[in-house]
Amino acid sequence: MPVIFANAPGKIILFGEHAVVYGQPAIAIPVNQLKATARVMPNPLGQPGDIRIQAPQIQLDASLADLPVDHPIAAAVRLAFQAASINQPPAFTLQISSTIPISGGMGSSAAVSIAILRALTNFFGKPLTADQISALAYTVEEIHHGTPSGIDNNVIAHQKPVVYRRDQPIEFLSVKQPTHWVIGDTGETTPTHETVADVRQHFQANPKRFSTFFEQIGDISRQAQPGLIDGDLPLLGRLMDQNQCLLEKMGVSSPTLEHLIQAARMAGAVGAKLSGGGRGGNMIALAPSENAAEIKAALIDAGAKQVFTTILTKGRES
Ligand code: PMV
Repeated sequence: MPVIFANAPGKIILFGEHAVVYGQPAIAIPVNQLKATARVMPNPLGQPGDIRIQAPQIQLDASLADLPVDHPIAAAVRLAFQAASINQPPAFTLQISSTIPISGGMGSSAAVSIAILRALTNFFGKPLTADQISALAYTVEEIHHGTPSGIDNNVIAHQKPVVYRRDQPIEFLSVKQPTHWVIGDTGETTPTHETVADVRQHFQANPKRFSTFFEQIGDISRQAQPGLIDGDLPLLGRLMDQNQCLLEKMGVSSPTLEHLIQAARMAGAVGAKLSGGGRGGNMIALAPSENAAEIKAALIDAGAKQVFTTILTKGRES
């Protein structure tokens, strides 16, 4: 049996984080220059069921049998066995690596699950559709995040810009005009389940105020859709700033995020906001094409630990 490998990209949320957990639409795009990779190497000398999992970046080198059932990597592997109807897997080593920052709001956990699911189901000759992969990755996301909205597994499994709304068919964005985005990593991390839990607590204490925030963010996502298709920078910039303002009121921003957001605006970004769970992780700025390099430099000067640029182009992201 040959070595089989599969990749899955990172992702970034443009509009609608947190509100998406409460049924509002959110927009996310894949970030193809970042990726998780899973490599399945058959071990013809091993006993059936003898499965080794290696993920050096998280210091993991263990037998599958020794990993707890709720270990996200073990869960993804076992879900792949089920999906491919494999009761007695042959011996193999699964190697996992990723260039996606961990806990940075760029979908590293969903991308790792999806790379594993793809690699193993291909290895067993039972490839799955993007929807099937997304549904399985969602169950692993529940282990990581408790109550994920499902946006990460969807955008990463489909590898297309999406408008995502809980329990609704996924919509893809067909972009006519390219837009340039600069992503700055604060280097600080707060697990998404923590910020999601805090927002839930505030929502429960003050349902009227927080429902209004969620609805306003939902409106922003709806208005942003035609703006993204047509590359309407002034509209998108304004909507990003409004979205950031609401996220600040909801308590998920942070001084470091705001410092980078301000630096991007000063360097010519038409709008900027945090992206993902917040209180650290990444911010994203919309750049006039001629300013992207300047904004990138300004973010590095302002202390960003890593900066990525990405272009949202016709029907895909590059
Ligand atoms: O931190 P990330 O990129 O995994 O994004 C979290 C997005 C939230 O809306 C805050 C949570 C969710 O499950 O959608």
